[in-house]
Amino acid sequence: MASVNEMISEEQLRIRVEEISHEIADGMGGEDFTIVGVLKGSVVFLADLMRALHRRGLCPEVDFLTVSSYGESTESSGAAKVLSGLHQEVTGKTILLVDDIADTALTLQHARDHLLSLGAREAYTCVLLDKPARRRVDFTPDYHGFSIQNVFVVGYGLDAANRHRCLPYVAELKEGDGAE
Ligand code: IMP
Ligand code: MG
Repeated sequence: MASVNEMISEEQLRIRVEEISHEIADGMGGEDFTIVGVLKGSVVFLADLMRALHRRGLCPEVDFLTVSSYGESTESSGAAKVLSGLHQEVTGKTILLVDDIADTALTLQHARDHLLSLGAREAYTCVLLDKPARRRVDFTPDYHGFSIQNVFVVGYGLDAANRHRCLPYVAELKEGDGAE
C-alpha cells in the first residue's frame, strides 16, 4: 500500500502564497506581465496565486502550456517536450512561468526557452516547490514557495499518475510494496 502523509498544511500554503504574491508584486517592479501556467500540476497553486496577486492590485493575463517529461512514471525521462501551446501571442511580453515544482528543472528550463524562442521579452519562473537535490540542469526559479527534500509529493495540484491532485495540502507519497 502507498501512504500519503501531510507535509505542508493548508494554512502553511495559504500564508506562503500570500507572501509569494508580495514578492512578485515587488519583484516584477510594476511591469505588466502575463502568467503562463504549466498544465496540469500548476492549476491549484496558480488559482490561489492569481487571487493573492489581485489582493496586491495585480490582474495579469493567464495562458497555459502543456509540457511532458514524466508520462505516468515518477521518474523524469530526461526529455521535456511542449505538447500543446499558448493561445495568445507572447512576442515582446514579460512572462511569469508558473509550475508546481522544480525537480530536475528540465521542464521549466525547456518551457522558458520555448517562450523566449517565441519572442517573449523576459520569462521569470515561479514554483510552489523546489527540490534542488534532484537538479539535472543549472536552474534556480526566480520565486519559490518551499524548498523540500528529495521525496515524492502529491496534492495541491501535484499528482502521481493523475491521482491525489485534489488534496488541499501537500503530502509525501510513500510507495509500499506496490500492492496499492
Ligand atoms: P522536472 O523534473 O523539474 O522537469 O519536473 C517535471 C514535472 O514532474 C513537474 O512539473 C511535476 O509535474 C512533476 N514532478 C516532479 N517532482 C514531483 C513530485 O514530487 N510529485 C509530483 N510531481 C512531480
Ligand atoms: Mg508538471
